[in-house]
Amino acid sequence: MGTWTVRDFHSQDVEGILALWQSLRDAGVEPVYDLSEVLASCEKDHAVVAVQGDHVVGAAVGRAAHDQGWIVFLATLPGFRGRGIGTLLLAAVENRMAAHGLNKLSALMPESETRVEAFSNRGFVVKKNLRYFERRIPVQRAELGALEDLGGRILPRDLWDRVAGMAAEKELLERRLVMPLAEPGLAEEFGVVPPRAVVLFGPPGTGKTTFAKAIASRLEWPFVEVFPSRLAGEPGGLAGALRQTFLEIAELEHAVVFIDEVEEIASQRSGEPPSPMQGVTNELLKIIPAFRDQPGRLLVCATNFIRSLDSAFLRHGRFDYVIPIGLPDEEARTAMWHRFIPAHVVAGIDVAALVDASGGFSPADIEFAARSASQRALEKAMFDDGASPSSADGVAVRGPVTADYLETIAETRATVSDAVAADFLEDIGALART
Ligand SMILES: Nc1ncnc2c1ncn2[C@@H]1O[C@H](COP(=O)(O)OP(=O)(O)O)[C@@H](O)[C@H]1O
Ligand SMILES: [Mg+2]
Repeated sequence: MGTWTVRDFHSQDVEGILALWQSLRDAGVEPVYDLSEVLASCEKDHAVVAVQGDHVVGAAVGRAAHDQGWIVFLATLPGFRGRGIGTLLLAAVENRMAAHGLNKLSALMPESETRVEAFSNRGFVVKKNLRYFERRIPVQRAELGALEDLGGRILPRDLWDRVAGMAAEKELLERRLVMPLAEPGLAEEFGVVPPRAVVLFGPPGTGKTTFAKAIASRLEWPFVEVFPSRLAGEPGGLAGALRQTFLEIAELEHAVVFIDEVEEIASQRSGEPPSPMQGVTNELLKIIPAFRDQPGRLLVCATNFIRSLDSAFLRHGRFDYVIPIGLPDEEARTAMWHRFIPAHVVAGIDVAALVDASGGFSPADIEFAARSASQRALEKAMFDDGASPSSADGVAVRGPVTADYLETIAETRATVSDAVAADFLEDIGALART
């Protein structure tokens, strides 16, 4: 084989870099830096190539960051190894980076890296006892602008774990939604088509919004809430604004799209002349099939009044599941009380009594009663003398006591009346699809 020379990278060498990258992958090596990072550094930082004629046979790419430089890529085609090309490439790229006044040059290479000799020839030493950590950030920088325009955001990562109790609902959502969406490859192997749209229904305060956000958090997908009431003022009218919003959502790589109180824009179409909302309902009926064609996203609609929805809306083909979110059972109420009672007093509280007394409460009611009890106990301790310390393991602790909770429970009216609870059971029988 003929002679080769080392020179600066030119933009026409991109093909050669790709071929080098591929040769690493073919050899089973997983480079530390993404190809896009390496190519960006070729253009903007420092890169040299070894060429034979027009043929790129090796390359080294470096990036200066303050006082420290990083070799982000070093590769030689298989047939050209063992001739000192790597050593010369490293020397050349170091030379180009020297102008930055670096005091350290580092390289992070896969364990299978074979060009150890090139590095040691250039005076690099292998550092022992290091660990490399990496985490993929779910949203690409390019998407952040679009996400911001939509009012979307990345939610904290722990929302799923913070949903107390509701074990049955959680398991259902985990199995039907989260798992196939998080593991699309696996789902495909089993012939499972990941869900694209679901309805959550149930009385107010049962956790529909909480679950929608928890799903987004669990998937690490951005959460985009569509507010029909805010879109109504847009120039194209609500229907036009809704269409525009979903076009923008289509630009995102991933998203959980949430429409709360969807009955407001998709209620039963009736009456002559047709209500002005009918055009909006029709628009939504058209939007959902188009939305379903795009992978990597999930539409979650929530409603307190599922029986008032347009019948076409719930027809098969639009929503994969229609899932009831009901009042918490004893186990769920226990978990919620444990969530809301301060940890240092919980041992001294008769939680079972609170669970009993709060039958028929929604999570929102429990949260309200718990907060009120805390507030009341604090006021008692600060302004009245009758503050009674509760005791956990015989040690006096300050905080609310069982009586505080029982009082506020007695004063809290359950949001969900018996009649509403009965309607909900009827709705489950007639409309739920899980
Ligand atoms: N499983 C739960 N664990 C803890 N808090 C909950 C749970 N479900 C709901 N909440 C709380 O109850 C309140 C109402 O919940 P939300 O999701 O808004 O209900 P919905 O959307 O069904 O009306 C919120 O403050 C939420 O934090
Ligand atoms: Mg809600």
